[in-house]
Amino acid sequence: MRIGVFCSGGDAPGMNACIRAVVRRAISEGHEVVGINRGYQGLLDEDFFTNEAGEPLMTLRSVSGWSRFGGAFLRSSRSAEFQSDVGVKKAAANLAKHRIDGLVPIGGDGTFHGAVDLAKCWDGRIVGCPGTIDNDLMGTDFTIGFSTAVQTAVEAVDKIRDTAESHERMFLVEVMGRHSGFIAVHTALAGAAECVCIPETKTDIPAIVRDLRDLKSRGKNSVMMIVAEGDEEGDAVKLNEELQAAGNPFSTRCVILGHLQRGGSPSPEDRILASSVGDSAVQAIVNGQTGVMAGIVGGQSRLTRFEDTYAEHKPIPPELSSLIERLAR
Ligand code: F6P
Repeated sequence: MRIGVFCSGGDAPGMNACIRAVVRRAISEGHEVVGINRGYQGLLDEDFFTNEAGEPLMTLRSVSGWSRFGGAFLRSSRSAEFQSDVGVKKAAANLAKHRIDGLVPIGGDGTFHGAVDLAKCWDGRIVGCPGTIDNDLMGTDFTIGFSTAVQTAVEAVDKIRDTAESHERMFLVEVMGRHSGFIAVHTALAGAAECVCIPETKTDIPAIVRDLRDLKSRGKNSVMMIVAEGDEEGDAVKLNEELQAAGNPFSTRCVILGHLQRGGSPSPEDRILASSVGDSAVQAIVNGQTGVMAGIVGGQSRLTRFEDTYAEHKPIPPELSSLIERLAR
């Protein structure tokens, strides 16, 4: 078979380890791999990775040494052109033109929506890998990049805590997660934050201010609040204004971690997950599967229909949120 691989949407640490797994598994079983640069846009532009010999095929050596690096060496993008009927048909025609009969898209829900559209006009096999720092896909306990993003955010929170304590301040630290509070909740728990605001739960400003007053009266001199960028009350700056207006007793500062969370050398967890799902995706394609994502649930490989990876909102385990609350004393 000739298998195409690409990264799409927001990049995530571990995507390179996933590409490596796809390439090594496929080639070692006698298949060919086409590296598609810049996601769906690269497919439209026929923009392929070229090997040492100048051919548009990846070799075992093309992926040497990449696992330890963040980013996506095949590049990533969000393609507006692909999101039209004309774009999807052109992508399908390009796959046929280059005799690609299997595809491994590495990305998040937008990438898998695209894969579903593509499958309507292309009869090759598509098996995806979950690559997004947001951890917002069903069908896998964790997504590639999440562990590293949390690690980066926790390192930042630890540093911010130093200055928060020196100056007896409260910090609102905004982390990524447009629709999901996974990064926020894990960062809050690991960073021993006193409070977390996420899109999944109602942010009650007067109740938070009561808690803050209570903490202050019990001798807390610094407070860390983790805010998911997609909190329904607004971002960290907006929440800060609301808390101040409602009588927050602490002096405050806001820090927005932003794209810092998308970079850096992937954690061992992300490399292991990426390697496993990349390998499983190739195996699934060779076995005739299509329209599914390769994930890991409870330590076991699992294939989930693309539609089921994004149909429901992946729930944050409620015990994690209550643990944060219980320990913030
Ligand atoms: O999908 C991952 C994510 O990191 C979101 O948490 C964030 O809102 C978004 O990407 C930002 O992406 P970009 O700046 O690439 O549009």
